[in-house]
Amino acid sequence: MFEMKRIRLEIRSETDRSYDILVGRGILDSLHSEIHRLGSFSSFGLVTDEVVRPLVAEPLQNQLQSNSIDTTLIALPPGESAKTIGTVLDLCQQLLSQGFDRRSLLLAIGGGVVGDITGFAAAIYMRGIPYIQVPTTLLAQVDSSLGGKTGVDLPSGKNLLGAFHQPRLVLSDLDVLTSLSSDARRDGFAEVIKAALIEDPELFSILENEGADLLDTSNPLLETIIAKACAVKCRVVNRDERESGLRRILNFGHTLGHALEAATNYNITHGHAVAAGMAVAIRFSQRWAGLTKDAADRALALIRNLGLPTELPGDIHSESLLSALEKDKKIQAGICHFVLIANIGQAVIHSLPVEELQRRLEEEVSL
Ligand SMILES: NC(=O)c1ccc[n+]([C@@H]2O[C@H](COP(=O)([O-])OP(=O)(O)OC[C@H]3O[C@@H](n4cnc5c(N)ncnc54)[C@H](O)[C@@H]3O)[C@@H](O)[C@H]2O)c1
Ligand SMILES: [Zn+2]
Repeated sequence: MFEMKRIRLEIRSETDRSYDILVGRGILDSLHSEIHRLGSFSSFGLVTDEVVRPLVAEPLQNQLQSNSIDTTLIALPPGESAKTIGTVLDLCQQLLSQGFDRRSLLLAIGGGVVGDITGFAAAIYMRGIPYIQVPTTLLAQVDSSLGGKTGVDLPSGKNLLGAFHQPRLVLSDLDVLTSLSSDARRDGFAEVIKAALIEDPELFSILENEGADLLDTSNPLLETIIAKACAVKCRVVNRDERESGLRRILNFGHTLGHALEAATNYNITHGHAVAAGMAVAIRFSQRWAGLTKDAADRALALIRNLGLPTELPGDIHSESLLSALEKDKKIQAGICHFVLIANIGQAVIHSLPVEELQRRLEEEVSL
């Protein structure tokens, strides 16, 4: 028997779309039995990228094969540049030529890019087929694989095409994280810190106690930490699947983080940009949400201890940041719903005109 944590993502009042999130070590070996629990399918597609293919997807294909599950493996080019509608069309074309029908099951085996592409293809292929997430980066395990947001980028912006389509299961095996670069681990921790700051003070304490030791993927507390970060996202999505209100708190650090990614032409990774965005939001929280200096200092120290930035990059131009901010699809009718924290584990939405946010930011960037 495998040791694992089973968390349930409940979609409010629609139990048939609720699903399990499994977190543990060595649990990929149980994937075949989890698939059988979900029902019977006509065919199986493993969608991965060229980096993850030899590391996880091929061994998994062999393992499924020895349990009488025959799969077709499709490997996409790695990285954000592959997250286009062209890749989705190619993928759908391949599914069609392999005879995939509405009873086929897709498995997304990779980071957030593979998960978003596969989920989107599953949402639109034959008006929707089931899929499973097997996230292989820390960021994907604690964030992108959960919640049913799928999609691809347009040349003018990230995630501008998409659909909500919940997976049938998320299976996160910590053993696959050992091959991740240390930068990629830090990126994932930015989202874990976010989860702690907006909703879970106990998770914050664990992170604070462990500090940089967490970057070692053999740390025994990692399983609890990933499960707790997943649970935060599940609780928020359960209350607001379509981001009409509460789900916005998941954007803590992201309004600025996304603007920073765009302003640097994506030369900064998502987690590093979010960390810098959270640091600014923490300083704003001290001024506008009553966050105490002690709590702000502890939050900033945690970001720093995990090797993430707490300042915007020195060479960033305020104009490019502000113009990227204006294009943010989350800004509605000139009002920005900026997420702050009133305390560790307690997010609050601070709605303000975008010009006001820009003015405050100009002070922060002090240009
Ligand atoms: N849908 C959502 O709710 C949501 C939420 C957050 C982020 N995202 C999306 O997620 C994407 C970022 O995800 P990511 O950080 O996982 O990036 P990614 O998928 O590009 O993975 C980063 C790199 O790591 C490699 N990799 C993956 N697993 C590995 C492993 N086990 N060992 C070694 N290398 C491995 C990949 O091949 C890739 O080169 C962005 O496109 C972002 O928009 C989506
Ligand atoms: Zn994020």
